[in-house]
Amino acid sequence: MCGIVGILGQGPVAGSLIDALKRLEYRGYDSAGVATLEDGRLERRRAEGKLRNLEALLREKPLHGCVGIGHTRWATHGRPTENNAHPHASDKLAVVHNGIIENFRELRDELIALGHKFVTQTDTEAVVHLVTEQIRRGLSPVEAVAASLPRLKGAFALAILFEGEENLLIGARRGAPLAVGYGEGGEMYLGSDALALAAFTDTITYLEDGDWVILRRGSAEFRDEENKPVERPKLKTQASAFLVDKGNYRHFMAKEIHEQPEVVARTLAHYIDFSNGCVRLPFELPFDPKDLRAITITACGTAYYAGMVAKYWFERFARLPVEIDVASEFRYRDAPMPEKGLMIVVSQSGETADSLASLRFARAHGQKVIGVVNVPTSTIARESDVAAPTLAGPEIGVASTKAFTCQLTVLAALALALGRARGVLDAAEEKRLVNELMVVPGLLAEAMKLEPGIEALSHQLGKARDVLYLGRGPSYPLALEGALKLKEISYIHAEGYAAGELKHGPIALIDEQLPVIVIAPTDSVLEKTVSNLQEVAARGGRIIMVGDSHAIDAAAVSLAGEIRLPDMAPDFAAIVYAAPIQMLAYYTAVFMGKDVDQPRNLAKSVTVE
Ligand code: G6P
Repeated sequence: MCGIVGILGQGPVAGSLIDALKRLEYRGYDSAGVATLEDGRLERRRAEGKLRNLEALLREKPLHGCVGIGHTRWATHGRPTENNAHPHASDKLAVVHNGIIENFRELRDELIALGHKFVTQTDTEAVVHLVTEQIRRGLSPVEAVAASLPRLKGAFALAILFEGEENLLIGARRGAPLAVGYGEGGEMYLGSDALALAAFTDTITYLEDGDWVILRRGSAEFRDEENKPVERPKLKTQASAFLVDKGNYRHFMAKEIHEQPEVVARTLAHYIDFSNGCVRLPFELPFDPKDLRAITITACGTAYYAGMVAKYWFERFARLPVEIDVASEFRYRDAPMPEKGLMIVVSQSGETADSLASLRFARAHGQKVIGVVNVPTSTIARESDVAAPTLAGPEIGVASTKAFTCQLTVLAALALALGRARGVLDAAEEKRLVNELMVVPGLLAEAMKLEPGIEALSHQLGKARDVLYLGRGPSYPLALEGALKLKEISYIHAEGYAAGELKHGPIALIDEQLPVIVIAPTDSVLEKTVSNLQEVAARGGRIIMVGDSHAIDAAAVSLAGEIRLPDMAPDFAAIVYAAPIQMLAYYTAVFMGKDVDQPRNLAKSVTVE
């Protein structure tokens, strides 16, 4: 989604604005722009496409102002052209915006009637003219913003720069996140997240939902939704402690795939008492597990597939019925919520609009909510009864990898904790399962060694037009995730299917051209999967098998390729099997020359519906 940055500097800020925007590139964008005050006058530079285009423009026509705002835009209203790129401006002010102004049409009609001229297709321009109108009526910039904010509907974050005001920036937050940073010598910053500001400062304040802030050098004045002055705490952020660069890797995605043994171990250590072989949740459950009747899981994208794997765990280990749906459907279904029910919202960013709306629905309907989130300061973390952190560290590649395996790790620990507390698992069973979890990081490290073979296989896949992924049990959501990863970054059409459903349709697609990736660890359904695999082989399908030696031998068909994983107990194999599946998509996209870290049209954090 869009990235916002603002700087009240001691010297020219254009270079720093670009640096901060680079740190926000991971959110996904298709145009960018900056505005500064040049001797009090607003000047903008905007460009379609990547930041390098904006940098080239700035070399040609530099900006020297000491206060400015910048933006990376992920198009929602209007195509990603230079004209629609932010900042949007009038003769009085310039605005950058993330999110959606829902009532922009109504505002636009009203403002056009008052003589304002709209020159873009964006919803943002309504904000520009709305605030400008107040200034024309004689209000100061601060009063004008105060008068305008209550008129805006939707979820958004804004940063506003004013003509002639060298010592003023205003930020506002409703729904989409926004942070204030405190720099050396009174420099002040605004950013969509702590990562944007990591190079400048480690001292930040998050705006609360509905807040807005008046920044002057050395001061930040916070107001709440009712325009009352409020105090908000200063925090020391961790963001700068993480090295947000690619290290020795070609792409963030490769780096993040390889970080998995470490971050899964770190996450496990947070939830497991290694010495006693039991789960030790780092929080109090907000309910009595014995009273719990049902779980509802909701999430989007990769996080949803993590939830789908976990459904098998909650059902098996805690004997709890699990209902799961994608958040964009769940939020509008008006689903009857069970008595004594728990909702689990899974989200890397903790800001996904549909997931957040589902959380709010569930809370309003009497559910306790656990948010499994990677960003501990996120809205979902804060609005959940309990935030269960995944300790993956910042994930930059748009295609989620290490966040997924850390989500699985947390969900597995949670399933065991509930199973134990409900008396489904005895201490010995818990210990056995905890021991299985404890070896997962080591198995992930083993899986990383399969890289050269996977890279070679990817050259086959790179020539395919379509790819089918099959699996049963927890390998079924993994098949869906495998297909999603491949689609996202290589743009090859791929589908995931429950292996047992093969005969009900997709078998018609099988021919010599179609690679069929079968995910089959040795588990209780291996035999069934093998039957399905033989049906594919009988029709000349090109099978690539992802399994351990026993499973691959059991397949007893000629394979077009294999990814041979070490032997492991079946219960949490999905966490380990995720890694080769990610690598396969990664190398296929690299082989095809695609922009792996920033796939076209995708955003890292989807803060609009
Ligand atoms: C976007 C990202 C996906 C992610 C999904 C949910 O579509 O591209 O990688 O899985 O959003 O995001 P969340 O932050 O809620 O996990």
